[in-house]
Amino acid sequence: MKLLPLVVTVLLTVAVAYYIYIPLPEAIQEPWKLMLLDAAFRTAVHLGTLKHWLGIEHYILSIRRSTEGLESSDPGAGVIPGVKVSDIAFSGVPVRVYEPPAGGEGHLRRGLMFLHGGGWALGSGKRGAYDTINRRVSDELNTVVVSVEYRLFPEVHFPLPYLDCLVAAKHFLSPEVLAKYAIDPERVGVAGDSAGGNLAAAVAQEISSDETMSVKFSAQALVYPVLQALDFNTPSYLENQQVPALYRTVMVQFWLQYLGADLSLLPQVLANNHSALQHSPITPEQRSRIDWSSLLPQKYRKNHKPVVVEKRSEGILKMVPGLLDVRAAPLLAGPEVLAKCPRTYILTGEYDVLRDEGLMYARRLQDAGVAVTSDHYEDGFHGIFSFIAWPADFDIGKRALRGYLNWLQNNL
Ligand SMILES: *[C@@H]1O[C@H](CO)[C@@H](O)[C@H](O)[C@H]1NC(C)=O
Repeated sequence: MKLLPLVVTVLLTVAVAYYIYIPLPEAIQEPWKLMLLDAAFRTAVHLGTLKHWLGIEHYILSIRRSTEGLESSDPGAGVIPGVKVSDIAFSGVPVRVYEPPAGGEGHLRRGLMFLHGGGWALGSGKRGAYDTINRRVSDELNTVVVSVEYRLFPEVHFPLPYLDCLVAAKHFLSPEVLAKYAIDPERVGVAGDSAGGNLAAAVAQEISSDETMSVKFSAQALVYPVLQALDFNTPSYLENQQVPALYRTVMVQFWLQYLGADLSLLPQVLANNHSALQHSPITPEQRSRIDWSSLLPQKYRKNHKPVVVEKRSEGILKMVPGLLDVRAAPLLAGPEVLAKCPRTYILTGEYDVLRDEGLMYARRLQDAGVAVTSDHYEDGFHGIFSFIAWPADFDIGKRALRGYLNWLQNNL
């Protein structure tokens, strides 16, 4: 009679293990922690999908609520007593400003605009690791950090999140605001991770090319940025399509949401149908700017073949013009725009679907004459930058944050 509870326990354990276990590349350290984290994300997504289906609430709102619980809430971890934090608005855009303890009186400080990640749909600079990181930058690097609370999907979509960031950047770079915060106009940078890296790269391009701006960013730090949406079959998209914390289909869904497109297009864009050759509005020049078969070293190309569709499928690019808009896809910018971009740091992870576009952007900026630091983590995966505190604390997260801080220390 003692057998039944035992059998039930064993079966339950197997079921839970089956739900949590995912095969991971061997180089990834602390694999069980990542599996548990991923299982928690997956549960949040499933719950959101169910609530959406039942008409209770939009899946994104549900996922936001669930993932807030996963964000570090380690009391004291992020609090650095000297840093002054204010939640204000820059030209109507909500921002959180971190002012370092030192400075003022004759000592000009550095400035950094920070744009958080989260697929243009999730996250906030005010919570979790982002708040901790920005406090540390402010304190350790004597920097005034401005973290932008740009609007998200489903409330808005492209170009509004980009425009929020651009408006806030122009306000920040105005001589009056820099003077008010005692910031050296020669030492103002922009940074962001993932979707925030996308926004940072796009805003940096726009500001660099804008002749009316007297002060420009002198540095950009892009942490596994999202940079293009015409090829979802790069070697890194294919090799890492099932590696957490960013699955290939999730990234493509984030793109469609951001660009205001119908999610039913997902299978078509996964197949690169939107960039088919026949009667395409994409010029050969634009294709060459995202051509991994010539821009990536052999180490990453391996034996992969470009997925190029011949026949056109009913005008996806007409329906979703953002796919070809440089403000959404900064890797599409021409060399004349790249040449004007500031000193650049690009962090990439070997096991990240976004690896190849980050490496290609580094290469193209370098070819255009920009000083680029490519910080590649051989055991890196998507999300490491914000995995620095319990319950998502990884040794690699601390190393990646150190890399970012060091670069800013020497280049901002
Ligand atoms: C891609 O487009 C072609 C031509 O319109 C179509 O036959 C094919 O089914 C599409 N593929 C997907 C995955 O939708």
